[in-house]
Amino acid sequence: MPSSQLSARGAAAQYDSFADIYDIWTETAPAAQSNRRFYVEAYLAAGGPVVELGVGDGRIAVEAAARGCRVIGVDVSPVMLQRCRKRAEEAGVGDRIELLESDFRTFRIDDAAALVTLPYHSIGHLRSTRAKQEAVQRVFSQLRPGGRFIFDDFVMTPDVVARMRQVQLRAAYPSAAGTDILLWVTSRVDEKARSMEVITWEDHFTADGRPEWRRYRRLHLSWLDPEDARSLLFGAGFTIDACLGNFDGTPFSMDTAAEQIWIARKPG
Ligand SMILES: C[S@@+](CC[C@H](N)C(=O)[O-])C[C@H]1O[C@@H](n2cnc3c(N)ncnc32)[C@H](O)[C@@H]1O
Repeated sequence: MPSSQLSARGAAAQYDSFADIYDIWTETAPAAQSNRRFYVEAYLAAGGPVVELGVGDGRIAVEAAARGCRVIGVDVSPVMLQRCRKRAEEAGVGDRIELLESDFRTFRIDDAAALVTLPYHSIGHLRSTRAKQEAVQRVFSQLRPGGRFIFDDFVMTPDVVARMRQVQLRAAYPSAAGTDILLWVTSRVDEKARSMEVITWEDHFTADGRPEWRRYRRLHLSWLDPEDARSLLFGAGFTIDACLGNFDGTPFSMDTAAEQIWIARKPG
């Protein structure tokens, strides 16, 4: 079996097991709120087929669909796709969202896209340079001339690395039975390999506050340095319209950026 399929299965398995806390995970992340607004506006402005790679539970795609946009969502995790379908149906926009169970590197659509996005650091789920190149080349092949590709990635400064290595209480919320759950997170960061293992665990308590059980989950991610992101885009044939350092539209600067947000265009 090709190694690309093996790593896609790994990502699918990680997200299948992460799916039931994905909501709380994104609701408690400030970046997830600002990136949603940014991407929804981009989808509405695209004026043609929009593809979201790694659509997840549809938190971006369904909002864009509710505002009139048609979105093709691609994801390798069947459980995340089920959640996306449910969210779309509950919002009454099931007919505006088409879902494809496929890998970033092999997805295929019928009509060339006006916009392909890869939001929320998801390019980092492809951990080798080769895998990232394959995905970006694939995006290029599925865009119409003049179409755009937008993705974001971490900006891993020493401060960000130090914060990620800390154990943080991410959320406190009730279970379905009304008992307490605490969601914790930390990351094992390998700066040399530009990769990390995000480790989360939930502590479940009894009604009288005694620890009852704990569940661990892991996500493997990598990140690109900005110069490597630029080379990746140029290598696939893209031109670069902009690189932003924040979802409010601030241009990228290594000193101030919270994110690297690449807006690339297929010439034509
Ligand atoms: C961080 S989530 C982002 C979900 C959504 N775009 C959002 O912003 O909330 C990453 C998603 O990418 C999917 N994914 C990871 N690797 C993938 C791959 N190689 N091909 C397709 N989907 C993949 C995961 O299953 C997961 O749903």
